[in-house]
Amino acid sequence: MKLLDGRATSASIKEEIAQEVEAFIAKGGRKPHLAAILVGENGASVTYVNAKVKACEKVGFESTLVQLPDTISEEALLAEIEKLNNDATLDGFIVQLPLPEHIDESKVTMAISPEKDVDGFHPENIGLMALNLPTFLPATPYGIVQMLERYEVETSGKHCVVVGRSHIVGSPMSILMGRNAYPGNCTVTLTHSRTTNLMELCRTADILVVALGKPEFVTADYVKEGAVVVDVGITRVKDDSKKSGFRLLGDVKFDEVAPKSSFITPVPGGVGPMTIVSLLRNTLQAAKSRE
Ligand code: GUN
Repeated sequence: MKLLDGRATSASIKEEIAQEVEAFIAKGGRKPHLAAILVGENGASVTYVNAKVKACEKVGFESTLVQLPDTISEEALLAEIEKLNNDATLDGFIVQLPLPEHIDESKVTMAISPEKDVDGFHPENIGLMALNLPTFLPATPYGIVQMLERYEVETSGKHCVVVGRSHIVGSPMSILMGRNAYPGNCTVTLTHSRTTNLMELCRTADILVVALGKPEFVTADYVKEGAVVVDVGITRVKDDSKKSGFRLLGDVKFDEVAPKSSFITPVPGGVGPMTIVSLLRNTLQAAKSRE
């Protein structure tokens, strides 16, 4: 078993990005600038957005955090987005999800200008991705494929089973793994809450990507000997022995699945740090395309 170490991989990619930023600025480019809109005070979202801002500083980007109350109306949020769309000092921005229930997430996603949509969630960018044309790839799936690439995981001709069809992870992941590219060229099965024979399907996976948000759902019984296991789950579970009051659990029961797998991501320290690196990559790409 080999660990897919997202912390180490993301640290080395961040160094590469920092060097690219230096070279870009030396040639007269402007510092890449990312903004994040955070609505409300959801604990996990605050942590993620702060990590994104910190990562920007680390690689030499400019960053702006726009904090809005969870009582904000959909209309007012859309007006904020329009401001950022028209802000010439910004290369890209994201709206951290989830949003409060009274706000329609798809309306918000569609309001972001595709050229600034460094999360890669706009339908235009999803369409370009599906056609294997240059675009911003959604951060989490992009992070996973970068990690598979770094570890030289073979994907061509393999059976990739994706568990969960969210717009953020499962659905784009299934598209990326089926593309005529590396990593990709897999035969892909996208499973979801209506899938009837989930365990049998998972047991046929050479590459198993689990993104359903149910802590330790995938046990050893779901995994074929030698499979590559990617755990996207990250659920906060109450734990009074921790200073924070919680610990993080993945969707995979790591201790019993790890011995069966050829590669596996830990939680935390697997997919999470790679997601942030993808956002940085997309922002740098946006800055370069603006020159
Ligand atoms: N919430 C969970 N993952 C993401 C992400 O990649 N982008 C945004 N904007 N919100 C998220």
